[in-house]
Amino acid sequence: MTGIHLYEMGNMNLLAIIGSPRKGKATDTLVDKAIEGVIEKTPEASIKKIYLSDNEINYCKDCLTCWRQDIKDPLAKCVIRDDMDVINQDILNADSLIIGTPIHMGYTTALMMTFLERICWTFAKPTKSYFIVKGCPEPRSDKKRKAIIIGVSGMIPTKYKKLCNCATPQIKGVIKDSLNAKTVGDLYAGDVWNQNVEQYFDKAFKLGQKLK
Ligand SMILES: Cc1cc2nc3c(=O)[nH]c(=O)nc-3n(C[C@H](O)[C@H](O)[C@H](O)COP(=O)(O)O)c2cc1C
Repeated sequence: MTGIHLYEMGNMNLLAIIGSPRKGKATDTLVDKAIEGVIEKTPEASIKKIYLSDNEINYCKDCLTCWRQDIKDPLAKCVIRDDMDVINQDILNADSLIIGTPIHMGYTTALMMTFLERICWTFAKPTKSYFIVKGCPEPRSDKKRKAIIIGVSGMIPTKYKKLCNCATPQIKGVIKDSLNAKTVGDLYAGDVWNQNVEQYFDKAFKLGQKLK
């Protein structure tokens, strides 16, 4: 597996996950700014950054092998052997998460969606009962995590984010239900094709500081 940058070793484990197919562009840059905010507040943090595009992450097969596992472990086994084996361990170690995604057709990227489908039932178990619906996901682990989400859109201005950003609420829901992660803040960096990405640097930095 490639595409990992290990910044520092410490006692707060942060995992940053990039769902853009492009390195060094808006999502990647803003995630780096958020990481700077984390380091400013928590210099001892151990930080790992993963580009999903560098990893072999196959599609969920809907075999529901993970869904059926009635186990105490925080992670159910998946039948697929690929780089998710390593990423899952990184998630288990993580106390905090930064999720960065471009907005594609109003949603998250296929890269990020493939990743989300793979963590959905490996890290969650079906509830015995949830109001009247049985089988909704709830985290397998009690370990609480914090998260921030950065969404980047090419042409939709920030003022329309509620209409044109289904990515952030979906990611928020999945990481809550599967990873027990509370989203403590999010950033929608709109219209980066026409706006300067730098205008979002301060917001991204402050967002990172919230992970303390
Ligand atoms: C397939 C595809 C769909 C896209 N859909 C949207 C969209 O719905 N709204 C939008 O504002 N930009 C859209 N874009 C533009 C991306 O959001 C934009 O290029 C963004 O900056 C990518 O992030 P990056 O710079 O980190 O790679 C789309 C781009 C692609 C390739």
